[in-house]
Amino acid sequence: MPSTLLQLCCSAMETLAPKLPSLKVLNPSSSSSSPSCSTARSSSSLRAGLRRPFSLSISASAVREGDPAVGSVSLGHVTRTDFPILHQEVNGSKLVYLDNAATSQKPTAVLKALQNYYEAYNSNVHRGIHFLSSKATDAYELARKKVAAFINASESTEIVFTKNATEAINLVAYSWGLSTLKPEDEVVLTIAEHHSAIVPWQLVAQKTGAVLKFVNLDETESPDIEKLRQMLSRKTKIVVVHHVSNMLASVLPIEEIVLWAHDVGAKVLVDACQSVPHMAVNVQDLDADFLVASSHKMCGPTGMGFLYGKRELLSAMPPFLGGGEMISDVFLDHSTYAEPPSRFEAGTPAIGEAIGLGAAIDYLSGIGMQKIHEYELELAKYLYENLLSVPNIRIYGPVPSGNTNRAALCSFNVENIHPTDIATFLDQQHGVAIRSGHHCAQPLHRYLGVNASARASLYFYNTKEDVDDFVRALNDTVSFFTSFK
Ligand SMILES: Cc1ncc(COP(=O)(O)O)c(C=O)c1O
Repeated sequence: MPSTLLQLCCSAMETLAPKLPSLKVLNPSSSSSSPSCSTARSSSSLRAGLRRPFSLSISASAVREGDPAVGSVSLGHVTRTDFPILHQEVNGSKLVYLDNAATSQKPTAVLKALQNYYEAYNSNVHRGIHFLSSKATDAYELARKKVAAFINASESTEIVFTKNATEAINLVAYSWGLSTLKPEDEVVLTIAEHHSAIVPWQLVAQKTGAVLKFVNLDETESPDIEKLRQMLSRKTKIVVVHHVSNMLASVLPIEEIVLWAHDVGAKVLVDACQSVPHMAVNVQDLDADFLVASSHKMCGPTGMGFLYGKRELLSAMPPFLGGGEMISDVFLDHSTYAEPPSRFEAGTPAIGEAIGLGAAIDYLSGIGMQKIHEYELELAKYLYENLLSVPNIRIYGPVPSGNTNRAALCSFNVENIHPTDIATFLDQQHGVAIRSGHHCAQPLHRYLGVNASARASLYFYNTKEDVDDFVRALNDTVSFFTSFK
């Protein structure tokens, strides 16, 4: 950005917020700024300068009548009453929470399940015969059954509780990968994988001599599935793919990929972090060998995720972590191990969080995943179409069409405005929470020629009115940053 414009920006900011320190406005393609996936670094000065006094208030009624976009009361209007956190003001504006791909909010039912566990039956699992321990064990194992039913696993022993999806992927990489991969074996991934699906395989490839092969995007800006098919050979031992991209909003045909992979004798690990919370996922229909997801993205607590693995695969895998709970017998010179899933759950697990995940699954199932999916498809289209009205915007990923559905999220850049400046201004001036950075997808951003983007991601408790508020705020943000030209 030219320095005169920078100065103009700064002076306009000063008018807006007299105590504003120097403002740094960055071009998204500049390599000087690479915000991490969890922080937005470039504009701490902007953040500090524009902050209004924090206020929080619970709105009287969550259901707003006459949503102009919906015409009747939508799923978003009905369900948002279940999420206390959504009914507050942030920086003097009504909160519009559009960072759901990072983490979802939690309904009262989940908060109550957590509180009830700690108030009424907190105890360690699998270890005690007393009343509280039995009750906690039953609830913990019931949560496993709920996860199994939710993704249609054939039995609950195919579900391993982990602390998040990242740990679940590491479990497969270190247990299955280290014991299976040999030099020259190939692991096929796409460049659109989340870091948590790339880095563990890099680490294991370094140890085993296996080779990682990456599929680029095709002309629609989706992972190139044809190339992936061509890349598969008898050397391929595992295909590691996301189901729904957390940046491109594209959806991969997992059933086909699994068929192709199985044809060459390879396994498939599906990163379902962005699909399981938003649509019905059936592991038996997909025939996936491994599938992972995180509780916190599907209305459940943080600190909890799960790995689904076919029984025969889990049974043949060595432990990932050693300790209590995962053993059969311990001698001084060796140990024998419990059957899965215990073999992979060393130490005291996140008991309350597992129970909270079970409550989240009850809640989502009560609404119906098909209903959630259909509503989100409508929101996805509405978000994409309305964002196109923003001047100089570039939305990443495929263009929605009759046979191309996008997830309800958009990653974008606006020419000459750093995404972190956009996210900061939206938060400070409009109470709109979006994400900026590389969304733990640096290789993908590099491929797209930028090192950061802004991302708005929706969930079923969002409404078209949220999208309207966001797009209005974004237009205001863009005109603020471009009004000095
Ligand atoms: C596609 C995808 N995979 C994996 C992850 C990692 O999830 P977690 O940080 O909960 O382990 C995320 C989180 O953003 C994601 O979006």
